Amino acid sequence: VSKLELLGHKVGTVKLPTGADVARLGIGCWGIGGPDDNLGLPMGWSTSDDSEARRGLELAYELGANLYDTADVYGHGRSERLLGSLLRQVPRSTVAVTSKVGYFAGTAENAYDPHHIRRQLEQSLRNLRTDYLDVYFLHNANFGSSDRYLEGALTAMQDFKREGLIRSIGMRGPHRYAPERLTTADACDKNVRFRKLFDIVQPEVLTVRYNLLTPDNRGGIFDLAAQHGTVVLLNKPLAQGLLTGKYSASAPPQFGLGDHRSRKRWFTPSALAVLSAEIEPLRQRFGSDGLTRIALRYCLQRFDQSAVLVGFTNAAQIRKNITCLGEILSDSDLSFISSVGERIMHALNAQGGVFLDDAREDRA
Ligand SMILES: NC(=O)c1ccc[n+]([C@@H]2O[C@H](COP(=O)([O-])OP(=O)(O)OC[C@H]3O[C@@H](n4cnc5c(N)ncnc54)[C@H](OP(=O)(O)O)[C@@H]3O)[C@@H](O)[C@H]2O)c1
Repeated sequence: VSKLELLGHKVGTVKLPTGADVARLGIGCWGIGGPDDNLGLPMGWSTSDDSEARRGLELAYELGANLYDTADVYGHGRSERLLGSLLRQVPRSTVAVTSKVGYFAGTAENAYDPHHIRRQLEQSLRNLRTDYLDVYFLHNANFGSSDRYLEGALTAMQDFKREGLIRSIGMRGPHRYAPERLTTADACDKNVRFRKLFDIVQPEVLTVRYNLLTPDNRGGIFDLAAQHGTVVLLNKPLAQGLLTGKYSASAPPQFGLGDHRSRKRWFTPSALAVLSAEIEPLRQRFGSDGLTRIALRYCLQRFDQSAVLVGFTNAAQIRKNITCLGEILSDSDLSFISSVGERIMHALNAQGGVFLDDAREDRA
């Protein structure tokens, strides 16, 4: 039995547009980028450690994970270089690697200046010690005023594909408070904006935040993906650790410099108090140790043409996330979980403001 069959047997596989079959639980590499700032804000994670990251990546591979997601901006190359150390050790054809461009402009006017994208891609490939990406994502939707960098960016992406540097083009899902909404004249409803870009870009892969706290259909994204045969990569399945149940209001986490969570309301004592009270029915039904499992299974069971990207900062988390999955959830489990998720969001929003629409929540 191959390694992929080990994990693939538990979670199923999905075919990327490149034809590669990947296990539907993939590994997110944002966390291992470490502490970082971008666009004038903390944008990284202060909890990671390079040697744990390397061990975690090697363990993930041993346990059968063969989809790894990173971005140029995750630790400004650090995450890509760590993943590159795994790619040096394993046959390239046994893994699928995705990276992204769009949040780091360097000295270019816009991150989607075609010359800049090419430089970033070349650097990403060097960091990753590979000569191609399976998916290259347009990481944000800021194509300048009147989208003036959009056409050039798309031409560049098509060129990269023809040159064999990337095998497919990806785009992120609706993203209400991405910076472009604040600056461009045609900024409009996030779903309208997303739909317009989807039609122009015609991405082969989408990525979208999804977990048990997310509104179920993310503005119809799963229907759209099903219609177009687009693969969707779901990110933040554990709500960045909140859904593991490890936080409490009495001992709120203290994040270090360069950690994006230090500016997020989700991790404040008042939000954690709500979360730990409202999550109790899940603890009672599935056990405290079962929370991570059901958070991941909930995402895995949402849409067949998808893979779930779960992040990590140490090897123990990789082991837990890959080995805890157990059996699939029943329909009654799923509706129970989703009603608890709705109650959690309702209670959080009752604290004031709308959590999911918080501008500060959503810029990475
Ligand atoms: N395309 C996009 O726009 C986009 C946006 C966001 C994310 N992504 C991708 O999706 C991936 C997943 O999202 P994410 O990493 O933000 O969030 P996530 O997967 O929901 O949470 C990951 C974090 O939760 C904690 N954790 C993980 N497993 C755990 C366990 N078993 N027990 C306790 N804590 C655990 C770790 O942080 P601590 O150890 O610090 O607690 C880890 O970094 C990212 O890494 C990235 O590759 C893409």
